[in-house]
Amino acid sequence: MIEREHWGSRLGFIMAAAGSAIGLGTLWKLPYMMGQNGGGAFILLFLFFSVLIGLPLFIGELLLGREGQRGTVAVFDKFAPNSSWNIIGWTAVFSSFLILGWYCVIAGWGFNYILLALVGTFQGMTSEQVGSVFDIFRESGDLNVLWQTIFLAANAAILIKGLSKGIEKFSKIMTSGLFIALIVLVAYATTLDGFSSAAKYVLYPNFSLLTSNSVLSALSMALFTLSLGYGIMITYGSYMTDKDDIPKTSFIVIMANFIISVLIPLMIFPLAFTFGFGPGEGEGLIFKIMPYVFEQLPGSLILTVLFFALLLCAALTSSVSMFEVTVANFIDLKGWSRKKAVLVSIVICFFLGLPIALSNSNIIFNNWEKIFGSNFFNTINTLTDWTLSLVALFVSLFVGFRLPKKNSQKGFCNGSTMSKYYNLWRFSICFLVPSAIILVIFNRAGLLNFL
Ligand code: PHE
Repeated sequence: MIEREHWGSRLGFIMAAAGSAIGLGTLWKLPYMMGQNGGGAFILLFLFFSVLIGLPLFIGELLLGREGQRGTVAVFDKFAPNSSWNIIGWTAVFSSFLILGWYCVIAGWGFNYILLALVGTFQGMTSEQVGSVFDIFRESGDLNVLWQTIFLAANAAILIKGLSKGIEKFSKIMTSGLFIALIVLVAYATTLDGFSSAAKYVLYPNFSLLTSNSVLSALSMALFTLSLGYGIMITYGSYMTDKDDIPKTSFIVIMANFIISVLIPLMIFPLAFTFGFGPGEGEGLIFKIMPYVFEQLPGSLILTVLFFALLLCAALTSSVSMFEVTVANFIDLKGWSRKKAVLVSIVICFFLGLPIALSNSNIIFNNWEKIFGSNFFNTINTLTDWTLSLVALFVSLFVGFRLPKKNSQKGFCNGSTMSKYYNLWRFSICFLVPSAIILVIFNRAGLLNFL
């Protein structure tokens, strides 16, 4: 059996976990969800759920991993041998692949946009023309496959180097790079005319715009951006030692994720508002509008490249964490070397991602939308929302009711200065977290509408 790797330092773990959390969800999905769901009120709910539901589950996933010192499947075999609990672990593997399928495609768009900026494509274009570049690109299956492949190769290069020399080292560099790029861009945004109205929009909550859907979307968004419900924190926790303070590091990661989640709309909306775009631009917000807006400003080349480099760094630290779920399972269950585990995972992901990369072109699945109501890409996206909720629900129930109490106590308290909150956490993981997730599931199933 290969000896288990461990994190090199606490800072390294925090950067890797924050890097996993801050990703396309934060940069791409949160701003447009906010735009469609009441701005500041949505962000406030997002914070509320991150702390009330996200934090206990984050702690729960980490301590399950640390106590088990195994990946998502073997950890259930260890604590619940000869039972069906390990289905949760397999579901986590399955959904990591599903999500990686679309994640790598969108992340690959970042490379495309850096190249477009470098060759000066956007110069002198109207906003409609910039928008149509996106529409044409989206439908170009071959280009999507090209960038997806390059993005996968970048993942392989990091993952093969191992935990502390690969994921940890690169996360440290990329997450700090991301912080710096973001601060530069937010500072720039404060100088624009649209900043005050954008700040009001982001920071001033207007609760009258909320519906039950948006409340529960804020909860799903909190779980998604914290990378919960995919077994990622179980895997990252399995590389922790008894000296690590799980509650405290979890709190730091959640706060870092929240700060970034507020800074990003504070950068994007002033830019959009200054040039007359509204908050509800939808999924094209960052790809259709940002390149046009940057083009109108001095230093457009640097701004565009910085922005999409930020997107790529954010996506890469998240995608390596998703790959690590599968890599750890291959190593645990099959005894493979890291190199083999990484290469097999990347190849599987490439083939699973192909239909997704091609799904907006008319090369395959031409009738998908007519049959399923949304295109293949969005169908997969919706499917991952379901698996996320189910994995999150069963992990919380497992940690709350099945994991031996001595393990949950040890997992929470060892190395921690916050042991006094153990009972509060236990109450949350046993009752609060599962109830909230059940509400999300009911809402998604159309059984619940309370606002
Ligand atoms: N948290 C990441 C983001 O906000 C997405 C993610 C989800 C990453 C699940 C890993 C696992 O983009």
